[in-house]
Amino acid sequence: MIKKNVETAINEQIKREEHSSRIYLAMASWAEQNGYPGAANWLYVQTEEERIHMLKLVHYLNDRGGAAIIPALDAPAASFKSLPDVFQEVLKHEEYISASINELYAICTNEKDFTTANYLQWYITEQIEEEKTVRSILDQIKLAGADKGGPFMMDKEFAAMATVKRAALALSGGANAVI
Ligand code: FEO
Repeated sequence: MIKKNVETAINEQIKREEHSSRIYLAMASWAEQNGYPGAANWLYVQTEEERIHMLKLVHYLNDRGGAAIIPALDAPAASFKSLPDVFQEVLKHEEYISASINELYAICTNEKDFTTANYLQWYITEQIEEEKTVRSILDQIKLAGADKGGPFMMDKEFAAMATVKRAALALSGGANAVI
């Protein structure tokens, strides 16, 4: 049986992952409305990935005899200054999620719940990858020139990255892999 404070902390992480999905969905919608179909596509795939992160924790908690709670969520921001601004926000959010996973991991080790700590290793590795990808996107936006049509040029790159990302998600089984 999972300890109560570990259960509470996992439920908090479930909320944060679902909120991440919602935040990126709002960003995807904004990008689609503002002439960035490639970036929108990338963000829509990211939305699906975050939902999978949430689902994995729901199943894990229920499988361990806990009770996953599906939370109410605050509305995400609906408008942004620019595409670089969107990705700055994505990076800031991913850094927040990394810190949150680390905090959850610390709670598990303090409680000697090494089974959950071991399960969280997947999330720790995933966060390294997510932060790295977004930093690389921001570098590319900077190189393309944030004020000189660079974001529009970058949009073709986003379309290619989204295709690779969607293929990787399909290969992993997507949401079906965690049902
Ligand atoms: Fe699931 Fe991008 O944090």
